[in-house]
Amino acid sequence: MTDFTGWMQGIQSRTEAALEQWLPGPQIAPERLHQAMRYSVLGGGKRVRALLAHAGGELCGAQPEKIDAAACAVEMIHAYSLVHDDMPCMDDDDLRRGKPSCHKQFDDATALLVGDALQTLAFEVLSQPDLLAQPLRQLAMCQLLAQASGSRGMAGGQAIDLASVGLDLNQTELEFMHIHKTGALIRAAALLGAYCGDCDEQALSALDHYAKSIGLAFQVVDDILDTEADTATLGKTAGKDAANNKPTYVTILGLERAKQLARDLHDSALAQLQVYGPRAERLVQLAGFITQRQF
Ligand code: IPE
Ligand code: IPE
Ligand code: MG
Ligand code: MG
Ligand code: MG
Repeated sequence: MTDFTGWMQGIQSRTEAALEQWLPGPQIAPERLHQAMRYSVLGGGKRVRALLAHAGGELCGAQPEKIDAAACAVEMIHAYSLVHDDMPCMDDDDLRRGKPSCHKQFDDATALLVGDALQTLAFEVLSQPDLLAQPLRQLAMCQLLAQASGSRGMAGGQAIDLASVGLDLNQTELEFMHIHKTGALIRAAALLGAYCGDCDEQALSALDHYAKSIGLAFQVVDDILDTEADTATLGKTAGKDAANNKPTYVTILGLERAKQLARDLHDSALAQLQVYGPRAERLVQLAGFITQRQF
């Protein structure tokens, strides 16, 4: 096995290449919309969801070429969620991935359409007829991504986030919000990768447990970084949660308990993976990356 950094860079670059292939060219009409879609998806982001899809796929012996489609679909939904998240009607953030947010670089209406178009492109990618030999499994993958993105998943979590501004949520309510707005798509990423291969129920259930824990840990760390890291490192505006009066794991637990929770979720994520040995090694490494990241 290559080192984790080498593996990560390999997945990041193959994902970039696959996304580049799927996104309509900047000269194709309507040019401005396609330019804004490419601006929002390409050349940035940690690609954690793509990494999770590949790591989940490795657990189940999936071919990387198949996983690329799942990874791109999730990254497209994620990019759309960030474009909308930054709009003035949501978090009103001017900086994303070290560049002006989509609505600042283009305009609000274009940012809205970028989200619409990326969402449908994700399902176009995932429903391509020659992706899997098992059409019913592929249909289940489309359903999984739809559920993770919609009102019972990411979009629902975002609605709760907006409705929670200025409120003093308890930990259970905050967890409910985070599991939806961030956890759902992270879980879908890992499972979609696994569905590209062949996994027994036990491995899928261990992966699902991992993905739920690490999905929540991801947002706990995002909340911590918002208070601890600087804007240049994050590539997005630091301190934005406090400025927007958002309840976060830091406001509710305090910094130290939030960090302890991230460590506990990391350990819980790995609990059922030990038996899979090298097949789960990337998942284990990725859990470390997600909880120890600096941006
Ligand atoms: C940021 O996600 C938004 C959250 C769901 C917390 P990432 O930290 O994965 O953003 P990129 O893709 O690396 O820019
Ligand atoms: C966003 O959470 C989650 C999404 C569904 C996009 P945040 O609002 O905390 O994400 P950042 O901090 O702006 O990246
Ligand atoms: Mg937000
Ligand atoms: Mg935000
Ligand atoms: Mg945040």
